[in-house]
Parts: sequence; structure tokens; C-alpha cells
Amino acid sequence: MSILEKNHSSTRAELISNLKTCQRNLKEARDSLRLDPVNYKLQVSLSESLRKIIELHNYLYYVLDSPSIPDYEYDKFFLELRELEQCYPNLVTVHSPTQRVGAAPVLKFSQIAHRVPMLSLSNEFEMDAVREFVRRLSGQLGDKNIEYVVEPKFDGLAVSLCYENGFLTIGATRGDGEIGENVTSNLRTIKSIPLRLRTSSHNNIPALLEIRGEVLMLKKDFIELNQQQRIKNEKIFVNSRNAAAGSLRQLDPKITATRRLTFFAYGVGKYIGDEIPRDTHSNLMQYISANGFLISKESDVVRNVEELLTYYRKILDLREQLPYDIDGVVYKVNSLTQQKKLGFISRAPRFAIAHKFPAQEVITKLLEIDVQVGRTGALTPVAKLKPVFVGGVTVTQATLHNEDEIKRKNVMIGDSVIVRRAGDVIPEVVGVVLERRPDNAYQFTMPDRCPECGAKAIRMNAEAVIKCSGGLFCPAQKKQAIMHFASRRGMYIEGLGNKLIDQLVETGLVSTPVDLYLLDEDKLISLSRMGKKSAENLLDSLRKSKSPMLAQFIYALGIPNVGVTTARELARYFNDFNKLQKADLETLQKIPDVGLIVAKSIIEFFADHHNIDVIKKLFLIGIKLIENSDAQKIQDNNSNLIAGSIFVLTGTLPNLSREIVTEKIENMGGKVTSNISKKTNYLVAGNAPGSKYKKALELGVNILNEGELLELIQN
Ligand code: IVH
Repeated sequence: MSILEKNHSSTRAELISNLKTCQRNLKEARDSLRLDPVNYKLQVSLSESLRKIIELHNYLYYVLDSPSIPDYEYDKFFLELRELEQCYPNLVTVHSPTQRVGAAPVLKFSQIAHRVPMLSLSNEFEMDAVREFVRRLSGQLGDKNIEYVVEPKFDGLAVSLCYENGFLTIGATRGDGEIGENVTSNLRTIKSIPLRLRTSSHNNIPALLEIRGEVLMLKKDFIELNQQQRIKNEKIFVNSRNAAAGSLRQLDPKITATRRLTFFAYGVGKYIGDEIPRDTHSNLMQYISANGFLISKESDVVRNVEELLTYYRKILDLREQLPYDIDGVVYKVNSLTQQKKLGFISRAPRFAIAHKFPAQEVITKLLEIDVQVGRTGALTPVAKLKPVFVGGVTVTQATLHNEDEIKRKNVMIGDSVIVRRAGDVIPEVVGVVLERRPDNAYQFTMPDRCPECGAKAIRMNAEAVIKCSGGLFCPAQKKQAIMHFASRRGMYIEGLGNKLIDQLVETGLVSTPVDLYLLDEDKLISLSRMGKKSAENLLDSLRKSKSPMLAQFIYALGIPNVGVTTARELARYFNDFNKLQKADLETLQKIPDVGLIVAKSIIEFFADHHNIDVIKKLFLIGIKLIENSDAQKIQDNNSNLIAGSIFVLTGTLPNLSREIVTEKIENMGGKVTSNISKKTNYLVAGNAPGSKYKKALELGVNILNEGELLELIQN
């Protein structure tokens, strides 16, 4: 069980009973005040009850992420407290929730010397370095079974929060580790930072407790902030860490208050108080959590090097889904006595290391900007880069999205740029290192003609996108349309790669998807580098591709804004291609995943007579759709156990990559999710499976190895 799970079950019950007590006190104070409105003691009691209720709801909302009342009810408590404090300013306390924002702007932050230095961690990238770390510690401690706490390594900025007699008094940035900046007023605006410790309501208040942790911006808040910045035509932040740092270091706390920041605790600095656990880090973290702080749900305790590495892989897999950015995991010896024994070397502890993930962001030089034409004719500026290793691959180009984005990011040719590649996302240029701009850097301008066919490039109304007006006369659009049609998630024409498509379009053999099915051996052999055997193979896969599932076919058509998921939803809803073709705007919008824009795209697509012509011809040459009902029948016959089933993958499969497995399952109508639950039908387990394996056993979920999965697929 993770460190948090152990804790929250108890705090939740406790919270509800606390809330009830506060509500009772509130009612009593209100009733008595009606009879005796100027009684100071009663006013204090009313304001304190309101504060406690607000704090409890804050905690439920910002820390436990499960609010128990609607916003307007919370607002009513808040307004009541504010009015009371305005009438009787003597009632105001520094820890009152009404006092989170309000401090005046400063000209400069003052300096704070940390009571205990804020150290850094030594970074490791290799599995072997982790093995060495464990070997070294086992030797030094003479213990073969050291326990470790494992946590994500938050990608934000470190701060220290001092609680004196339960109240937040000072908060500071890490600075150089010895001296940081006093950003207390800004930290007070962060709702996941309690202004007083939760145990302060219980009598055993520590005289001093210094909480260490990371201020960060959740991914969703970062995306929203940048969207707002775009609308206001203001600075775009390169990543969530810069956004968090920029927001926390505002001289005016009112600005910080408008930025949604979150604080995660990961340790303590100096502390004085008998009730603070002194045995293990995990108990310390539970104590911190019980005091109202957010700690990572992913924290856990493990017992050997293999478990450390399994945890690393698990979190690497989870990285994209976590609500915040991380750049690795941290391993810490759990026993505080053992920590003390191991001590420190220079600026880092010996008892902990950071095991970093491959970088998702790097700096490289922007050599040139090319313009590429997409399937729908959109002209996309693409940065040609000095090759650079990022997110696990070598990247030579990255998207710049559109002209407006280039201006907003102030990117020039010759600049040193920050390139990001996260997960499966296309690499993108996220910003510029202005200090490194050379004198000869120059601005990019978008061409007014399509670089592929010379047709006029036009800006669609107020959209940022500029499009080639050449339609399917434009060879680039033709090629892209065919690539999309033939792709794995589309008609899945094996052996029809991009180079071959280029040749087929350039020689005029293929202009539309229909032409693919009119190819014969003679035509194919006329191409360079095409032998008899390859021609036969291609014709064979073309034949095989003639009976796609309805969803595959819809996707293959390349209707703008209709991706794999939408295609699947459309197939599920209509179950019949004709019905889809005739659907009106209103019907389309009833479908999950389809909004007005997508619905309009679909209508426009089927209103175009070129498209209708291609579709008709496709059916004429013998495309036969397997409609969903057929898929259902197959499933009913028990011959396809995959359609409709939910799969979860864990560990490394010996032969197949996760992408291929996912694709196979999805192509057969199954679903792959990341979290295991009672709804999961199968867990596919490879080598070194993660905690999902244990959970599957607990839940009684079917467990398959690679071979068994393949059997299921082939059946
Ligand atoms: S423990 C003795 N735990 O990493 C140092 N640090 O390189 C104790 N960080 O400045 C740090 N997530 O800002 C620790 N779960 C985590 C962390 C974490 C991020 C940062 C922290 C620190 C840096 C150390």
C-alpha cells in the first residue's frame, strides 16, 4: 500500500466528524450571538468555527481532491467570515483564510538563512548506477535488506516552510541552499499550503516544524495559463517549471494569487517537538500528510534493488498521465537512524539519490525553417535542427505550429532553441534562449504560395493556420491523403511505405485511394526498386485490406478533425456507413467526442462531390466493410475475445513493443488502459511486472503472458 493510502482512510473519517463538531459550534455561536450580538467571546468563537470549517473544506478540495460541498456553499462561509472580520477587525488573525492574499508588493525579496541547509541530490541515469548505490549502502550499513522510500522527483522549485507553534511564519526558496529568498506572502496564496498545521487543533503542536517540498504548476493549470497568456498576447511559458518559478517570484502577491500553484511536501528540515516521528521517513511523511500537506500518491516503500528499478519503470510509464511534470524518481533510505549513519558528502546526502528520466527538453540550434504541407493542406513551419538526443530519440526537426506561434515565441533562424519531446508527442520548439541569440539571426516569413504546388496560400478567416488552396491537385496533399489511408490505423496496407507512395504519386500511377486498388503487377514492376516478389506482396496486402472494420474505414477517409477515437465513436453509434453519410449536424453532436467543429467537418466532407466520388468507387472496386454488428457477432461466437475487453499492460514483453500490442488490441475493438480495476478483463504481464501484477491477483483479473495474448489475437 502506498504511504498515502494508509493515511487517508483514517483522516477522512476523522474529517467528517471534525466537520460535524465545527458545524455544531457554529450553530451554537450564531444562536447565542443573536441574543447577545456584541459579546466578544462569542464573536471569537463564531469566527474560529468559520475558519475551521473553511480550512477543512480547503483541505478536502486542494489536498484530498474530493470536495464535499458545492462552491457556492463554501463561498457563503467565506463571505460570512470576511464580513464578520470587516465589522470587527480585532477578530482578524494572520492564519485566517481571508488573509491569504493581501500583503503589499515588495521592491525586492529579503534574504533568509535556512536553519538546516537545503541540499541537492546526486543524479543518476543508469540502472547500474542504482545497483552500485544499493551495493555501497549495504556495505556501509552492513545491512542487506535496507528499506527505501521511493517518490517521483517533482519538476518544480524547492521551498521551505517554517511552522512555529503550528503557524506558518516564513517560507523561502532554496536559493544557494544556505540562503534563500523570503517569499512568504506569495506562498501564503497557495491553497495546498496550510496556514496552520492540522494537528494544531489537537493540542500537540510542534514548537518548530520546517516542511520541505516543491512548488509546481499542475499540467492542466499550466496549459490553461498559457492559453490565457495567448489570448492576452502575453509571454508564453516554456514549461510548467518556468511558469511556477515565474509565478512564485512575483513581487506582488496579488499576481501570484491569480496563478494556480500547488505544493507537494517531500521531507522536513529542522524540527522541535516530541510528537514528530523519529524512526522512518515514511512515518514522517504520514505525519506531514496528516498535518494537511499534499504528498505524492505514488510514494511507496520498497525493499531491494529490483523493486527500486521496477518502481522507476512504473513511474516512467505513468509519467504522461501524472497531473504534474516530473523528471525522475527519488530513492531515500527509510530508516532515519540509517540516514544519520550514512551522513552527507559535500552538498548531497549519501542516503538518497535521484534516478533521472531521459531529458524531455534540450537546447539546440535552429538551422532553418521549412514549410510542410499536411493532408488537409495546412502549411506548417518546421524547424530544422542541429541533431539532438531528446526523449529517448535523435531529433532533427520539430514543429513550430504556425506563424503566430513563431512570433509569440520570438523564434528566429539561427537561434538556440528549447526543443521538447514528451511521450509520443511530436517534438516541438517551445522557446528561445535569448541570451544566446547570434547577431546574424533573422526573422522567418511565411510564403504566400504553397511550396509544393505553387497554389496560393490562404489564411482561413481568423484562424492561425494558412492553407494551400491547391486541394488534391497538390502532390503533397495527395501523398499525405494516401499515407493516411494506408496507415496502420486506417486500411492497414502492409508494405505500402512513404517512399513507395512518393513514387506512385510522382509517376502519376496513383492520385486517389481508388487508384491503389487498380494497380497491377505490370504497373508496379515499372517502378524503380520494385521486383516481382515485392509487387506480389503488395497486391496481396491490398487485397487483404479490402475488408476493414467500419471504424478503420471512417478513419482512413481522412475527414478533417476525425481521429481514431472519433472514428470509433462514429462507427459505434451508426453501425452503418450510409447512416453516417446522411447524418445531420444535430445527430452528429449527440455522439461522445463530437462537438460542433467536428460535426461541421463531417458534413462538409460528405458534401464534397470529389469525396463522394472516391467513396463510391471504393465500394465499386470491392471494399467490403465489417460493420460493428459483425464484430459483435464475432465476439458472440467467442472467436474474438478482444473486442469490447479492457486490457492493462505491465512489465517488458519479450518480443512485442507496447505500441504494437496496443495497436493490435485496439484494431480488434479492445481497449488498453493504464490503471487496473475490477473492470479490467486482462492484465498482459511481461518481465519485471509492476505493482499492477499484485493488484490483478487481488482482483482476480485474468493474467496473460505474451504467448497467451498472441493466441487470443490469432483466435
Ligand atoms: S529530497 C537532501 N525528494 O530535487 C535533499 N527532492 O536535487 C532532499 N526534488 O532541490 C531532497 N522531488 O527540489 C527530494 N521527492 C523529492 C523531490 C526532490 C524533487 C528536488 C528538490 C531538490 C532537488 C535535489
